[in-house]
Amino acid sequence: MKLLVDKVMQEGIVLSDHVLKVDSFLNHQMDPVLMREVGKEFTRLFAQEKITKVLTIESSGIAPGIMTALELNVPLIFARKHKSLTLKDNIFVEKVYSFTKRETNEITVSKKFLAENDRVLIIDDFLANGEAAFGLARIVEQAGAHVVGIGIVIEKAFQPGGRLLAEAGYHVESLVRIASLENGTVTLA
Ligand code: G4P
Repeated sequence: MKLLVDKVMQEGIVLSDHVLKVDSFLNHQMDPVLMREVGKEFTRLFAQEKITKVLTIESSGIAPGIMTALELNVPLIFARKHKSLTLKDNIFVEKVYSFTKRETNEITVSKKFLAENDRVLIIDDFLANGEAAFGLARIVEQAGAHVVGIGIVIEKAFQPGGRLLAEAGYHVESLVRIASLENGTVTLA
């Protein structure tokens, strides 16, 4: 995806050897034209999968998730990281540890929205250690549903998430893979 690669290279700000700031198009201000193209690309990559639901996690997964769901003409569910006033019972819960933020979140999805016959595409903005993606996959599996694949906008390929998910048998597609952020520079894989 040239449009996305150009954005990462032109607007990504390397904060450290491990963190890339992309708040001009993905994590704060969001670029809808780019997100529409991201949705089309995930739809193309998972075209054979008869997807019934897209699942992501709030907040930055929602933009690529909703554009993918729109293109696939299926609902988007976003897992919540914060307790909801109206969502207390009948929920799937998983613990997700963030190495980046050094905190554990309980992520939740209402049991109403996932069923055994669902074929679920998981979408997220970043892949680092894979904790969020594994947590979402565990929720799908709690429901007895099937994870057809995992679509990632930006994978930091120098962190182990992509490899661990592939080793666990998941079909992972990342639109941009970053090999290194060393010396203040983005190097693509
Ligand atoms: P993991 O799920 O792959 O293990 O990743 P990790 O716990 O390290 O990520 C925690 C949060 O930090 C996630 O967002 C993730 O998207 C984000 N993140 C990880 N690496 C980077 C990076 O290099 N740059 C940016 N910009 N974000 C990164 P979150 O806390 O869920 O935030 P949000 O979705 O509410 O924006």
